[in-house]
Amino acid sequence: MSIHPEAQDRNDRIKAINPVITAALSPLGLRSFFPKGIPYQAGQAKNCKINATIGQITDGDGSPLPLAPLAEKLSALNPKDAFLYSPIQGRDTARKAWHAKLVKEDARMEQVGMGVVSAGICHALNMAAELFFAEGDTLVVPDLYWDNYEQIFQIRLQGTFRTFHFYNAQGGFNIEGLRETLASVKGKVHLLLNFPSNPNGYSPTPAEMQAIAEVIVAAASDRTVIAFCDDAYHGLVFEPTATTKSLFFELIGKSANLIPLKCDGVTKELSFFSGRVGFLTFGVDPNAAAILVDKCMGLIRSGIGCPVGLSQYLMEIELADPRHDAEFEKMRMVLQTRYGVLKQALTRPTKQWTVLPFNGGCFCLLKLRDGLDADAVRQQLIHEESVGVVNQGDRYLRLAFCSIKEASIDPRVAAIERVCEKM
Ligand SMILES: Cc1ncc(COP(=O)(O)O)c(C=O)c1O
Repeated sequence: MSIHPEAQDRNDRIKAINPVITAALSPLGLRSFFPKGIPYQAGQAKNCKINATIGQITDGDGSPLPLAPLAEKLSALNPKDAFLYSPIQGRDTARKAWHAKLVKEDARMEQVGMGVVSAGICHALNMAAELFFAEGDTLVVPDLYWDNYEQIFQIRLQGTFRTFHFYNAQGGFNIEGLRETLASVKGKVHLLLNFPSNPNGYSPTPAEMQAIAEVIVAAASDRTVIAFCDDAYHGLVFEPTATTKSLFFELIGKSANLIPLKCDGVTKELSFFSGRVGFLTFGVDPNAAAILVDKCMGLIRSGIGCPVGLSQYLMEIELADPRHDAEFEKMRMVLQTRYGVLKQALTRPTKQWTVLPFNGGCFCLLKLRDGLDADAVRQQLIHEESVGVVNQGDRYLRLAFCSIKEASIDPRVAAIERVCEKM
């Protein structure tokens, strides 16, 4: 593998701060760097009187030349913010706003550098994985996980999964399973945890979160642990017993062998699905984090070019608005009500399934009785009841409560029961 001298410089600088991080990088992570090419040179020249660097069409004075139909639709926005390129790492204002939001959630974030902007949370996960996850590596993940992780870690990056049961016998998070599974992987290990979880809508209690963090820190006592925290559903919690805090906060500064990675963004939290603004934040020494951001800039430049500036700008407007917290709470309450109706609908006794514990996120999982095939049930539901749900493997049905009216919740549960009874 040949490493560009610029990449070698980054690797050496990270090594001088914490050699564990350099050793943990994947071959692609080792090769990545942000080149001193066009965006870099344009950045250096951005305050020049005459700036003939970047391939951006402007009026010659730094303002865009938008086409009228677009400009009319976006007329309430500052044209420069709406139409011009975002910096590769994301807009400074967007990165600062998101970082400040995280500091407000937990003061430990003050020790952590600003995240790099991605094109949505999936892209943040993929970028984090590209930096650290090498072909043949093992990802420890609970057995109930978002199906797209397979595309990222198995199909794209050619690794394998080692799973453990998500729940323990009491219906809480299976901390012992996590401990045993981490111990079963020798050497560098990757762990991915997603709370509140998709597909099963579970957020741990504060005590469980603490215990999870302790297990991860202990696992890093004598080897490298890379902890991917997928916080896509952050804040969507509906029981006072469940924590709204990110696992990431618990891992900051706990061990030189531990590399915590936070993937989050506006998609669900700001109900801004089309915005495609995500963040990848590195819970390591801020100087090392800044070099990792530089490596991400190489990945971004070669992958999507740069993130979408317009939606970062819109995110900044939302976060700066004094109504923001109340607006989030209003949205959360809509889900809270649906959650309550679904919980109630699922209390009626049935032989067709058991409900897995859920308290947050957008979904719950039903474990179907023996003899039922989840995909067959799903297809029958479409054809006979005009009801769409998702199968998770062959035993589980995932029910979304984020996207259906309260009035549809009871009829949907009844329809699932009818189909299961018939099969
Ligand atoms: C657990 C989880 N992580 C990440 C994502 C990806 O979010 P985005 O749409 O921002 O890429 C999703 C989206 O459904 C998700 O469920």
